[in-house]
Amino acid sequence: MSDVRKQQENDFITVKKDRRFAYHIYPELSFDALPERLEELDIKDRRMVIVSDSNVAPLYLDELKEKLTPACRQLSSYVIPAGEEHKNLDEIRKLYIHLIEQGLDRNDLLVALGGGVIGDMTGFAAATYLRGIRFIQVPTTLLSQVDSSIGGKTGVDFDQYKNMVGAFHQPSLVYINIGTLKTLDDRQFASGMGEVLKHGLIRDASYYEWCLDHMGEIGERDPEVLREMVIGSVHIKRRVVERDPQEKGERAVLNFGHTAGHAIEKLKKFELAHGECVALGSVVAAYISRKRELIDEDTFYEIRDMFVGFGLPISFDSLEPEDILAAAKHDKKMDKGNIRFILLKKLGSAYIDETVSDQEITEALRFIKAD
Ligand SMILES: NC(=O)c1ccc[n+]([C@@H]2O[C@H](COP(=O)([O-])OP(=O)(O)OC[C@H]3O[C@@H](n4cnc5c(N)ncnc54)[C@H](O)[C@@H]3O)[C@@H](O)[C@H]2O)c1
Ligand SMILES: [Zn+2]
Repeated sequence: MSDVRKQQENDFITVKKDRRFAYHIYPELSFDALPERLEELDIKDRRMVIVSDSNVAPLYLDELKEKLTPACRQLSSYVIPAGEEHKNLDEIRKLYIHLIEQGLDRNDLLVALGGGVIGDMTGFAAATYLRGIRFIQVPTTLLSQVDSSIGGKTGVDFDQYKNMVGAFHQPSLVYINIGTLKTLDDRQFASGMGEVLKHGLIRDASYYEWCLDHMGEIGERDPEVLREMVIGSVHIKRRVVERDPQEKGERAVLNFGHTAGHAIEKLKKFELAHGECVALGSVVAAYISRKRELIDEDTFYEIRDMFVGFGLPISFDSLEPEDILAAAKHDKKMDKGNIRFILLKKLGSAYIDETVSDQEITEALRFIKAD
């Protein structure tokens, strides 16, 4: 590919739904280009509400307000306490009140400034307020930049159930400021790397190799390298969701590492970050793939050990494999009954398998359990 073409392709990414244009994703190094990027949404006469959380607002809200004030008719902000425990309908109710007080109508917009929690909540409020208004994603965690801001899944938790209430609602635009990653703590950054590496493992071996080759720069959070990495990951997720927007089939490959991962996450009572559990679940899935001779031994050990280089765990303690299996089965109760496991056909290619036995899963879990 010529450098010019590559350059143009990387200025923005176009996401389609049902083969039609849905929205643009802009990967940028600062907030400077935001007003210009928003011109395509025709917001000059519109009201906007920026929704953020109590950690992100002190860092970036003023700058965002300064950029957006001249671009629209009326701007306000609404801050939700940070943390998954606030991702619920009580907080959404309070947000609706703010939107009503601000007089938002069907043509107005919400802006999600924060990680996946804020993106999911703002998207859900936008999907439901007045039967649906537009919203913009401004993701500020690595996980939200490469994963949750793309694909249109929105929602909140309900009692102990994660993402129990929600809607598919596509953003009108995604503006990624890579620069926000510099304030993210190391653990949250590593957690996002869990999803980045997953994308390479399931769909693109050369992207995966590229990540390994750039481990040093990624660890130092070199902005240009991170931009390239985020663009690569966004493209992989985009391609998968474009082919299966409502998660009826192929999109399930994105759940690689999530079957065992979610179960561990739950049993550890959310003590581990999501991407840390994805890393553990990926090692489990890679182990089963190795046992089935889909990948060779060297590849398995390479996959396992590279997670360490990115600050992610490859073993767990104080949980029993049988309990993790039971939790994984319980998690999937609402599917058809079988555990749908995502395995690797080879490096860079995953498939959905419904034949993985309890024994294969417990053996893999036993292998990664630290004693
Ligand atoms: N919709 C989807 O397709 C999808 C996909 C994956 C995950 N999710 C959801 O995403 C959520 C997890 O997202 P997350 O990992 O971004 O968590 P998060 O939104 O809770 O952010 C993690 C922490 O980082 C802080 N933070 C955010 N940006 C920061 C920055 N730039 N500098 C410093 N601190 C910052 C936040 O305040 C928070 O404390 C979960 O609720 C999960 O269900 C949704
Ligand atoms: Zn995930």
